[in-house]
Amino acid sequence: MQKYFNIVTYGCQMNVHESEKIAGLLDELGYAYCDDMFKADIVVFNTCCIRENAENHAFGNIGMLKKLKAERRDMIIAVGGCLTQQMGKAENLHDKFPYVDIIFGTHNLYKLKDYILEKQKKSKPVIRIEEDGGFICEGEKPLRTSYPNAWVNITYGCNNFCSYCIVPYVRGRERSRKSENIITEVKQLVSEGYKEITLLGQNVNSYGNGTDEISFPRLLEKIAQIDGKFRLRFMTSHPKDFSEGLARVMRDNPKICRCLHLPVQSGSDSILKAMNRKYTSADYLKKIEILKKYIPDCAVTTDLIVGFPGETEDDFRATLDLVKKVNYSSAFTFVYSKREGTVAARMDNQIPEEVSKRRIMTLVELVNSLTREHSAKYFGKEVEILCEGYDEKKGMYLGRDEFGRMGYFESSTDVKGQFINLKVQKANGVSLIGRRV
Ligand code: 5AD
Ligand code: SF4
Repeated sequence: MQKYFNIVTYGCQMNVHESEKIAGLLDELGYAYCDDMFKADIVVFNTCCIRENAENHAFGNIGMLKKLKAERRDMIIAVGGCLTQQMGKAENLHDKFPYVDIIFGTHNLYKLKDYILEKQKKSKPVIRIEEDGGFICEGEKPLRTSYPNAWVNITYGCNNFCSYCIVPYVRGRERSRKSENIITEVKQLVSEGYKEITLLGQNVNSYGNGTDEISFPRLLEKIAQIDGKFRLRFMTSHPKDFSEGLARVMRDNPKICRCLHLPVQSGSDSILKAMNRKYTSADYLKKIEILKKYIPDCAVTTDLIVGFPGETEDDFRATLDLVKKVNYSSAFTFVYSKREGTVAARMDNQIPEEVSKRRIMTLVELVNSLTREHSAKYFGKEVEILCEGYDEKKGMYLGRDEFGRMGYFESSTDVKGQFINLKVQKANGVSLIGRRV
């Protein structure tokens, strides 16, 4: 009888892609995907811990399966990812949810198949958290879910230790895949028909550091030279490692999308220092200037945190000023969340919730107004959209242009995975509506 799996994913693109790898492992065991976790024979929670609400969300959903598990004892519940990798969290999770069958961490995801086979033979939960062994798993066969885009890891882990961030503790030290493995994977994906390749790493700009590998700009260049029509994106870049060489490669290779996600986090120099970001707001603006010198129309997006310990009204105003100066086309905005074990968690002057809430509302308003202004410039223009699928609610197809702007349009045939030219007829919000030309 066919058995089914379901995966619940929290957090970033790294996790989305790792869930595709988990799906690949379950496929090898003979399970088929089903979209209802209450009907699945195995449910995997791929968790995130970057902010407290991501953790709470996962805890809530794992809790929801308690009754079902009592009725269907043979179903398997597995929890993995960043949450479980935190010190003491696996035990915590087991105490809270003793019915969870498998708990695994970020460093041993590739062993999940063994854990499932082990669990099928015994009644006790299988709890396996491994420390960072500097290992890179190659030869995985992800079941990809985001066609026409394909995610490709280039680095794992992070060495930056931004003072607010839990990632270096749960994902280990930075390690780079061999460029030949990355290039082989991209060639294969392009030959299979993927039209957009997104390179993934916590800090892609430090690709190859500490090894005899080529630099990140050179890697990008080599990938952009692969035959076929496809778009090349990458995330995330750390400003301290963004170089003029990268801007040049982006300009000279039309397959590389003219957009850059460059998280600034704050516009205040004292907060940036306390965050251990290793640049000042002037350094950051200088990098944006270099980028714009090479690619004047480059869309720049960012991540911003408000309410970092000690953030004053002046610090916050500096963030607003920087956001206006850079004129971001969009931004992810976050309220600082205290993460146990990080340096910032031990800092005095944690900011009261109501202050952070007020600040984030002001910031979101500013970012939205910039996004709308950027959108408005599209009115009447022609854009090339890569169609990602059909939006049931809107009754229209949707896709993104090179700059990352979402566009909707009508089509009588299924055009998912095709490049479509649109004449923009409506551009007053975050997304565009256009007519095929
Ligand atoms: N609180 C709030 N936001 C955080 N980020 C990372 N750690 C935290 C935290 N403790 C944000 C940063 C990062 C993005 C992925 O998540 O802005 O760039
Ligand atoms: Fe976290 Fe900083 Fe590393 Fe990004 S660069 S994952 S914010 S420590």
